[in-house]
Amino acid sequence: LTVNASDAAGRPIPETLFGIFFEEINHAGTGGLWAELVSNRGFEAGGPNIPSNIDPWTIIGDETHLNVSTERSSCFSRNIIALRMDVLCDASGANTCPDGGVGVYNPGFWGMNIEKGKTYKVLFYVKALGSLNLTVSLTGSSGQPTLAIANVIASASGVSDWSKMEVLLEAEDTNHNSRLQLTSTQEGTIWLDQVSAMPLDTYKGHGFRTDLMNMLLEMKPRFLRFPGGCFVEGEWLRNAFRWKETVGPWEERPGHFGDVWMYWTDDGLGHFEFLQLAEDLGAAPIWVFNNGISHQDQVTTSSVLPFVQEALDGIEFARGSTDSKWGALRAAMGHPEPFDLKYVAVGNEDCGKKNYLGNYLKFYGAIKAAYPDIGIISNCDGSSKPLDHPADFYDYHVYTSASDLFSRYHTFDKTPRSPKVFVSEYAVTGKDAGRGSLLAALGEAGFLLGIEKNSDAVSMASYAPLFVNSNDRRWNPDAIVFNSSHLYGTPSYWMQLFFSESSGATVLDTTLEAGSSSSVVASAILWKNSKDNKEYIRIKAVNFGSSSVKLNITVNGLDPNSLSGSSKTVLTSTKVMDENSFGQPNKVVPVLSLLKAAGNDMDAVLSPYSFTSFDLLK
Ligand code: AHR
Repeated sequence: LTVNASDAAGRPIPETLFGIFFEEINHAGTGGLWAELVSNRGFEAGGPNIPSNIDPWTIIGDETHLNVSTERSSCFSRNIIALRMDVLCDASGANTCPDGGVGVYNPGFWGMNIEKGKTYKVLFYVKALGSLNLTVSLTGSSGQPTLAIANVIASASGVSDWSKMEVLLEAEDTNHNSRLQLTSTQEGTIWLDQVSAMPLDTYKGHGFRTDLMNMLLEMKPRFLRFPGGCFVEGEWLRNAFRWKETVGPWEERPGHFGDVWMYWTDDGLGHFEFLQLAEDLGAAPIWVFNNGISHQDQVTTSSVLPFVQEALDGIEFARGSTDSKWGALRAAMGHPEPFDLKYVAVGNEDCGKKNYLGNYLKFYGAIKAAYPDIGIISNCDGSSKPLDHPADFYDYHVYTSASDLFSRYHTFDKTPRSPKVFVSEYAVTGKDAGRGSLLAALGEAGFLLGIEKNSDAVSMASYAPLFVNSNDRRWNPDAIVFNSSHLYGTPSYWMQLFFSESSGATVLDTTLEAGSSSSVVASAILWKNSKDNKEYIRIKAVNFGSSSVKLNITVNGLDPNSLSGSSKTVLTSTKVMDENSFGQPNKVVPVLSLLKAAGNDMDAVLSPYSFTSFDLLK
């Protein structure tokens, strides 16, 4: 392998090349990155119907002591359902309440993670006939042990109308499978709505689970595509993600049932929170909006205007002045400064559908007229044939076998250099991937090396899906696996970290000499390490074969005397189908070693089925 590292060589890589795609799939946000512990906090999961679906809320007590029903009597008009509890028993008298009282509990998303010494804010709306004496507690999954407890007491006049209550609970112990209980031992009627429980220590207080957030920060993503995927489209338009329903006070958001991935979300993680997430990650937001097309239905181009206005309003929400209608709402939500929204995608995977082109042109014209600087992403793949419509970028999605993705190292060698390619979803899937194998990561690595070399054609690339809650695997594999308390990266996650310095770096010219193994592909970049302010050459090579490969690496333009501090990082394992798991989270992870024999002419051995990165101090 010859790398040309002379000062004149090389081409700048786009600042945005590697980022992440967050989709609300696999409970990635609801019951995942979004730290809300209560599932179905508004008792609304059936939509605005009676009886609504209060699942997973569960009744504590039997009908001799308690009646539980839902009513359309909430103080929130957009989510009108409230829970009614008629407590029939009392602390004394003929019908005595059972120990601990009667009421309801919420197990969260397959158990709440409650940790000793941490504080949790429980907030709810309540109304009562008579005075209120309600016990709020965090307990183990059977109601025992009690981890934290508080009593909320109010006079009849204090709760004769809806009142907001807030308690801080400090946990005395740790339990990863806890629940929130609201119970009473006082006869009377209580209505509850919008019950929330959040840990106080979310990332920057912005509501993101810190452990998952740290995994994302490690990736140094330069963009965040959100909120889907199919989630944006919906199986039916009535169930698609519509941003206006997800902004403003969380209590007033109606929530919706995502009918592609088949679960309810309270939409606590809404349009504002996605933009905040991008900002917190230092990533450029890329908003995918619904273009009037779902999987099963679509609006015609002559009636798409409300959707176009909705997209314009969503952009105004992100970056309009505080004097504008939607900019003012953003400011009221705590972010008067505009968000740095520069890219939008018109739908997801809709190219070829009857109304796509017509609808697309309406969006394109309106957005360019109002925001000429915004880059617009088309769903139509322009890599094989030129687009028949204007676009700044086009989506390219690929889910395939490991060997096929590896061979796509060359896919973008000859594609047009404009419009730019946005590889917004790629992954090895199927039996090569299982739930995240080394083999899958190596196939993906080959593809990414090709993207890096062709980064004058490809501007952005993101793996999909990013997250999976192991209790709701709607899609395999995924980059980061978690449950209420634990998490790990699949090999595909770790593979992406090898590219975390590539965005904004310089790609160097590399040549694999004739006769080199066909199982090897490579790429090299020049990048500056902000930690020591020094320049490094990173040479990355994948060996996709079952035999080790000897590689002679010649680096032209590298001073042979300044190579101390150079290192090598390898991602491999004993078996190519090895995966990480909660039990063995570090089975397939990168291993770093110092390079003893670094030089501008060095011999290296690439292990079978491995990904190696050589970091040479320039
Ligand atoms: O990444 C999972 C799904 O794959 C996305 O929702 C969709 O865009 C694609 O089909």
